[in-house]
Amino acid sequence: MSTLLHLDSSARGKASESRAITAAFASAFRTAHPDNVVLRRDLHTDPPPHLPEAGLHWAPGLREAGERPGWAAEEAQRRLVNELLAADVLLIGFPLYNYGLPSTLKAWLDHVHVPGWTAPSAISGAPLAGRPVVLATARGGEYGTRGVNRQRDHATPVMELVLGEEMGMSVTVIAANLTLANRTPALARHTERAARELRGALSLAVELGGRLGSGRP
Ligand SMILES: Cc1cc2nc3c(=O)[nH]c(=O)nc-3n(C[C@H](O)[C@H](O)[C@H](O)COP(=O)(O)O)c2cc1C
Repeated sequence: MSTLLHLDSSARGKASESRAITAAFASAFRTAHPDNVVLRRDLHTDPPPHLPEAGLHWAPGLREAGERPGWAAEEAQRRLVNELLAADVLLIGFPLYNYGLPSTLKAWLDHVHVPGWTAPSAISGAPLAGRPVVLATARGGEYGTRGVNRQRDHATPVMELVLGEEMGMSVTVIAANLTLANRTPALARHTERAARELRGALSLAVELGGRLGSGRP
């Protein structure tokens, strides 16, 4: 039996491609084993607050004198962190907004990246080391290795850096590009490629959800 923590952050509902990809993954994960559990948190409809105090970035043993976050803020952070620590697999859907992360997901990340608690430090190990995280992202434009936008996605690299390098999780990225092909004349010639990318992303999500849901690496 495995637990999946499934986060979404798109401000779109049914039309969202990142939500479609995470839904495909979560469904395959759920059906891979009868005892699997999926815990869902929608960061768009139920957003965490901006990090209210900088002291929350550090585990209590690493805080400086005077860094004493309030009880309610600590409690809200504890809920998010414990949810993450209890999950065997983490799944995060997010759109690219103004070349960066949706602010709701950034607020979540600011709460859960805590040296000395979720990230290694002088006083702790790496509780999330090797834990799988699947990043499902949708981007209006084209972000391949050769195009003009190739280094302009500042969302996925941040997630890889914080969850992968800082927290030690094992990151897989599923991306759908050119999602604006249907509504932006300048991208209209890419409509077929956009549809192909989405199909590829959905089938990868199903394959990966089934694999991780059955406990295979
Ligand atoms: C506020 C906002 C900002 C956006 N900024 C970008 C951007 O910087 N680059 C880009 O390629 N697409 C951008 N888009 C398009 C989205 O990335 C695209 O619609 C994507 O499919 C959204 O994900 P979703 O389908 O899961 O909702 C933006 C869309 C919105 C609503």
